[in-house]
Amino acid sequence: MTTFSYSTDAPAEVRAGVLVLPMFHGPKGPVAGPGVKEVGLEKAYRDAKLTGKKLDNLLVVRRDGDRFASGAVMLVGVGDKAEVTPNALRRVLGRVAGTLGRFGTAATTFPQAVGGHDVPAAVQATVEGLLLGAYRFERYKTAKADTGALTRVTVVGSTRGDAKAARDALKRGRVVGEAVCWARDLVNTPAGDMPPAQIAREAQRMAREVGLRCKVWGKADLEKGGFGGILGVGAGSVNPPRLIELWYRGAGSQTPIALTGKGIAFDSGGLSIKDGKGMETMKMDMGGAASILATMKAIAQLQPKINVIAAIPSSENMPSGSATKPGDVLTHRGGTTSEVLNTDAEGRLVLADALAYLAEKKPKLIIDTATLTGACMVALGDQVTGAMGNDDGLFRDIEAAGSAVGETMWQLPLYGDYRRLIDSTVADVKNIGERYGGAISAAWFLAEFVGETPWIHLDIAGPAWAEKVNDLGPKGGTGVPVRTLVRYLLDRSA
Ligand code: BES
Ligand code: MN
Ligand code: ZN
Repeated sequence: MTTFSYSTDAPAEVRAGVLVLPMFHGPKGPVAGPGVKEVGLEKAYRDAKLTGKKLDNLLVVRRDGDRFASGAVMLVGVGDKAEVTPNALRRVLGRVAGTLGRFGTAATTFPQAVGGHDVPAAVQATVEGLLLGAYRFERYKTAKADTGALTRVTVVGSTRGDAKAARDALKRGRVVGEAVCWARDLVNTPAGDMPPAQIAREAQRMAREVGLRCKVWGKADLEKGGFGGILGVGAGSVNPPRLIELWYRGAGSQTPIALTGKGIAFDSGGLSIKDGKGMETMKMDMGGAASILATMKAIAQLQPKINVIAAIPSSENMPSGSATKPGDVLTHRGGTTSEVLNTDAEGRLVLADALAYLAEKKPKLIIDTATLTGACMVALGDQVTGAMGNDDGLFRDIEAAGSAVGETMWQLPLYGDYRRLIDSTVADVKNIGERYGGAISAAWFLAEFVGETPWIHLDIAGPAWAEKVNDLGPKGGTGVPVRTLVRYLLDRSA
């Protein structure tokens, strides 16, 4: 656990294991960032032939006569000053975060690098970058890496800044950073140790810790409630499904915002089985569920004046003698029927029940997020979330929240003519479309269950999982789109 504090002490006088200072790139060589002149290292950086470009870094360990009180100073290139945004700071710090643990404690003037305008956003991004970049998943390593961990980080702000706003931003950064790391833990934990019942237990424990109302629906409850999609997908597994319901009440009797996320504990494809390669990473098919749980955790800790309800469906998609078969018809919550022609298109089947259930609550709007289609990855790659829905204003707000926190969304059209792709001859709808436009036909299937409620669907099949180490963390679960959702919800606070 890292504790974060805010200070306006002179950078040279701060006593930390390592002091991390930004350097800019300019037309005539490197430009000293906040604190660099005071510690007397501007010339050393230049003499080392460094330029201030991103990650052009210099580490100096204190020796007698040095003008700084910290044990070491790391000068970190952040690029052209005019281009330094909170999102850029998060990524640069994310890259160095993993190397700071060995110093035990750290201090940084990074937020001052964005100049006067969005200092709180820069403070938040700084804290997030440090937490996300240092994230490691070591639960199953018998020999843990001995890189150390920061026990304390001091964010050093300007004496002219608004200290109250900075401290609030510091807390947001810590809460969001920890929530994203928790979502990653849930995703990275092997499916063998994270069946639906365990996801539900994690939700209950989290709810108890942060003070949320939580109700877990078991198999018998789901049968009584008519959740045929969740049950149908889970029918082949020895691990029974769950529906996790969470309530956050921060605004009395106001209409809630509704959230759901795909929680397939493992996606083997069912009887329409995937090949070996295709299911290697399918423990991550509950990434949507994990991101909604983490969002609820962060919201409970940040206490905005809004109401939020989440209903998260979780099943394990396995083949067996009791599994749903291609051609079977499921009856979803609310009565709509679907013909299952491919048991590997299972995410939409569990989400259908959750969406129908949430729509019954007459919420202001519904947001769902899901590792739904390989087609979305083909279209947008592994860093861009595909957004589809029935409300352009809602898309614009989500997109704005995403770009503010460095998570990119791109809208795909819920093109009217494609609705017929899911027409079924035996049921109300079928669960697959044609070869092309797979992300959109999946969204049309979901649309069937939200009625008139304003709704947006975020297909995170690509961004939920990193195939290799990147600026904000190692290979594995990413926690996308927790940052976007928390930002969106905080912006709705009365
Ligand atoms: N969970 C997968 C989608 C997925 C694939 C997510 C790869 C992340 C990485 C989903 O359940 C699935 O299998 N979708 C099928 C749908 C098809 C059968 C219509 C797909 O995309 O191939
Ligand atoms: Mn599947
Ligand atoms: Zn799936």
